[in-house]
Amino acid sequence: MGLMENSVGAWRVGVLFSQTGVTSTIERTQLNATLLAIEEINARGGILERPIEPILYDPASDPKKFRAFAERLFQVDRIRLLFGCYMSSTRKAVLPVVEAHRGLLFYPTLYEGFEYSRHCIYTGAAPNQNSLQLAKFLLSAYNRFLFVGSNYVYPYESNRVMADFVVQGKGKVLDEIYVPLRPTPDDFDKVIHRIKKTSPDVIFSTVVGSGTSVLYRAYRAAGFDSARMPIASLTTSEAEVAEMGTEAAEGHITAAPFFETLSSPAAKRFVTSFKEKYGADAPVTACAEAAYFQLHLAFRAVAKCGSDDPEQVLGNLRDAEFDAPQGRVRVDPENNHTFLWPRIARLDRHGRFQTVWNPGVRVKPDPYCVVQSLDDWSVELPLLHP
Ligand code: ACM
Repeated sequence: MGLMENSVGAWRVGVLFSQTGVTSTIERTQLNATLLAIEEINARGGILERPIEPILYDPASDPKKFRAFAERLFQVDRIRLLFGCYMSSTRKAVLPVVEAHRGLLFYPTLYEGFEYSRHCIYTGAAPNQNSLQLAKFLLSAYNRFLFVGSNYVYPYESNRVMADFVVQGKGKVLDEIYVPLRPTPDDFDKVIHRIKKTSPDVIFSTVVGSGTSVLYRAYRAAGFDSARMPIASLTTSEAEVAEMGTEAAEGHITAAPFFETLSSPAAKRFVTSFKEKYGADAPVTACAEAAYFQLHLAFRAVAKCGSDDPEQVLGNLRDAEFDAPQGRVRVDPENNHTFLWPRIARLDRHGRFQTVWNPGVRVKPDPYCVVQSLDDWSVELPLLHP
């Protein structure tokens, strides 16, 4: 009876982040942030006096398991809102299920762009909110790029977009190399060999998950100097840095809308709450921040319409604004992506991201890269600046 009361009374939501497998280190930060946001809302009495109840599974970084658990969540657990996914391969596995059940997926991860589903709210960066700024930043100092990525859809597509930006900025892509999703140190031998042979100015890495620390360690072991030839990435966050250690991390560059080291009161509040709940060493990442604010955004919409019916939630999310830790964010009704605040940071010798470029503008999502210019990506922003 208690269970029945609970399941009727609570807002039940599906949560799919991997607790095991190749991207579990970053996905655990997204899971933690989702649960933190739920705890905050429940501590304030829930939404319309009903608590939020997460239904969790561990899809183990495996697209097939993501799909099977999504089916289960909609068919058996009867959820309507789903929060989850890191790798684009897992989002692509889950989306047809979400669409078939007319649900709504909230996806808190940077990705390659060139996608729209009416049944998905994208709260991580699209390429015009991270790749573009990273390309612009790097091209002011470096010309010759070498791309290295994990062997799946996000790196292929992200590299294609980055190559366009590099060429537009009169840079050159010397080579593009892929390693398995679960690489061994041997898999990076050919990468190190190519770096030695081609002498790039900078490496653009789209390696994800546990392979990241293998790359950065192999790079250091090969004697390369990050001050002279850094690795720049969108997928190397505080979580991967914690795995690789400070020595391998120092000097490398990441573009993201949020870093644990941001000094704004909102960012500090979020980081403090996160670490109070999960421990001082728990990494706080941009993907965790997106997981956190999207849960709050979603339930603001639920509170407004008094329902978790995806159509009604979608209607109430249109133009919804939220004071996220990175700054005020907003869902763009044109494309279901989110206005975000691009930043670039470099890792110091303590393995902490120090901001090296903060344009201070909120960028409208342009998932299809309609505006493909390195120079006018922020033109309409002053109008939208809160
Ligand atoms: C990713 O696969 N979207 C990082």
